[in-house]
Amino acid sequence: MKIGILQSQPQFGSVAENVTTALSQIATKKADLWVFPELFNTGYQFISKKEVLALSEPIPTGPTTQSLIAAAEKYKTTIVAGLAEREGKNCYNSAVLVSPRGHITTYRKIHLFYEEKRWFAPGNKAFEVYSINYKSERGGTMKCRIGIMICFDWIFPESARSLALLGADVICHPSNLVLPHCPQAMITRSLENRVFSATANRVGTEARNTEKLRFIGQSQVVSPQGKILFRAPEDKLSAKVITIDPKEARNKSINAYNNLLKDRVEHYYF
Ligand code: ACM
Repeated sequence: MKIGILQSQPQFGSVAENVTTALSQIATKKADLWVFPELFNTGYQFISKKEVLALSEPIPTGPTTQSLIAAAEKYKTTIVAGLAEREGKNCYNSAVLVSPRGHITTYRKIHLFYEEKRWFAPGNKAFEVYSINYKSERGGTMKCRIGIMICFDWIFPESARSLALLGADVICHPSNLVLPHCPQAMITRSLENRVFSATANRVGTEARNTEKLRFIGQSQVVSPQGKILFRAPEDKLSAKVITIDPKEARNKSINAYNNLLKDRVEHYYF
């Protein structure tokens, strides 16, 4: 299966332009699954609730999700992309999963980071895993199970573990990382769950209030064995397609005696 990882630099508030720029990458490179960064259409550093309300969109009827669906149909691909969702008076830091069949689901970020807590309501739905189709090299239709978590969810190992317990082969991880630790930490998340992780981060800076945020790039794909299959630079745009075999994520046995999921001792855990 071919996974495309987009590392972009959205211009804050220029939604139509950011969407067009991101989708232009899908037009030139073929992949079964694309992962875009968190808030790929709006930019990250909101400074008022009014601004969030103005830039967020209902899903799936909003223009960004509709453009993503049209692109998924046109290029016969599946896309996971982060955007600000509006539902009534609430806004969520969300990621949509769309395919040629249309909108499949929306994940709402559960662990909000820093000032996101001022603008967004925390996710109110549990982690989920969905099956998507891809074409094998011999032309047959294969299934891959994908789960979604967003950026800061990485620091709570329960996020990736929940997705692994639900049977995810690939964790799609739209991000706007500012702390330095995540790219290395995701190696462990992949290793301890035997899953692929696909982190799509952004680059550049935003300084819309007194604080300057620098986004650390390094979008990456990590294998279930903890191998970095691809890592983008810290400060450059990138759209990279790499090939993986999702089946590699399905054997959780470490040796004849140990199995990553079956050896959990739940009654000793909090
Ligand atoms: C983050 O969760 N965007 C750091």
